[in-house]
Amino acid sequence: MSLSVIILAAGMGTRMRSATPKVLHELAGRSLLGHALAAAEALAPDSVCVVYGHGGDQLRAAFKDRAYIKWREQAPQLGTGHAVMQARDTLSPGTALILYGDVPLIRPQSLAPLLQDAAAGALAVLTAEVEDPTGYGRIVRDQTGSVIAIVEEKDADAATKKIREINSGIMAMPAPVLAGWLGRIDNKNAQAEYYLTDIIALAVADGVTIHSRKVAKIHEIKGINTRRQLAELERTVQRESAEYWMDQGVTLSDPARFDIRGEVKIGRDVVIDVDVILEGKVEIGDNVRIGPFCLIKDAKIGDGAEIHSHCHIEGARIHAGCSVGPFARLRPDTVMHEGAKVGNFVEVKKSVIGEHSKANHLSYIGDAELGRDVNIGAGTITCNYDGANKHKTVIEDGAFIGSDTQLVAPVRIGKDTTIGAGSTITKDTPAGGLTLSRVKQQHVAEWKRPQKNKDKG
Ligand code: UD1
Ligand code: CA
Repeated sequence: MSLSVIILAAGMGTRMRSATPKVLHELAGRSLLGHALAAAEALAPDSVCVVYGHGGDQLRAAFKDRAYIKWREQAPQLGTGHAVMQARDTLSPGTALILYGDVPLIRPQSLAPLLQDAAAGALAVLTAEVEDPTGYGRIVRDQTGSVIAIVEEKDADAATKKIREINSGIMAMPAPVLAGWLGRIDNKNAQAEYYLTDIIALAVADGVTIHSRKVAKIHEIKGINTRRQLAELERTVQRESAEYWMDQGVTLSDPARFDIRGEVKIGRDVVIDVDVILEGKVEIGDNVRIGPFCLIKDAKIGDGAEIHSHCHIEGARIHAGCSVGPFARLRPDTVMHEGAKVGNFVEVKKSVIGEHSKANHLSYIGDAELGRDVNIGAGTITCNYDGANKHKTVIEDGAFIGSDTQLVAPVRIGKDTTIGAGSTITKDTPAGGLTLSRVKQQHVAEWKRPQKNKDKG
């Protein structure tokens, strides 16, 4: 059965007080609309249409990698029914599903039953029982319990306002039936809007079966109108994912201080201290320990590795048993092979650190290839940039680089060689032995310290 999804996103979003369209604001590292699209994608639809009102260029730019989206503008915005009318031409003969760009947490599992109902010819509405139904459309039933209407707050009488079952807005139905109903919705109501919810009464009139499905978790249907609501939903999402990972065998020192903004995989017996943020695609093996205050983005961390506090890791591959930090920065295309160590105030960019090699203190390693068992002394710098181009430094297995050395790339340091501390190395060095470039130490016995000039006070 073919599926056409329509995502409504034309609302003004005035209460966000933002120059950015509301649906581009981010929740757990992904835009609100991105969440709704992901839910739609999981249902393998034949077409997805987004109805927008403002910021069309910004929206198209944000989703340029999703060429399948059919964008339809709704201007002016005359209600949810009017919004769906703008997408009528995108409907294919099967099922139509209505989602919302500002309702990010709807799960495909909660939508699947609606699609089944619709495939059987019914109109399916996702509802919820809430403590405070203020502002929502109310689900009105007859004596037999059948849904007969959805009445908006502004059109509701006192008795209807007491109903606590509300309309989430999410619905599914046979697309051709919807197309027919759209032509019959009017705007004779308190807001002079074309209400999508009027299709309930049309279904009753046409004898189309109406199914209501209650959503399991209320946050799935929560819409975002303000930054406060955004922050609240962010905490809900983070709490849920923290609980999920604890259930999978991860120790979190404080689940309230652990944020995931992307897709992660975490192994068993991983211990994560407070204020750790995982962004993008992060994979963490078994028995990894992550200290407090670390940002880890698009990285892969092997079994038993230890990330000490205050590390900034992006685009790095850290193999098993490595040690990073405290206060280390690993930039994109860094690979640390097994047992390697990158320590305090060391920055590594686009470099390979071989097995059991170490750079423990105050170094910059960029565009470099280190073999195994290399030792980089404190303060060593690869001078990879000549002001115009980047050049490579190769350090062969077992080399020992003395402290405060500059390796002026392109340069190759031979196997098992030692570089004397304080050297500036501009030429390739042979294997073994010692290379150093230093001014010979002198002693000037008769030298006197400058004296303060007394005349000038
Ligand atoms: C709508 C429902 C209401 C339901 C509530 C759930 C109608 C008439 N009412 O209320 O029963 O309980 O959602 O939140 O459908 N939108 C457009 N174009 C428009 C108007 C709205 O695209 O012209 C989009 C908004 O961007 C938003 C969604 O539709 O994503 C809902 O709009 P909103 O004004 O928040 O909800 P109501 O119409 O008040
Ligand atoms: Ca409205």
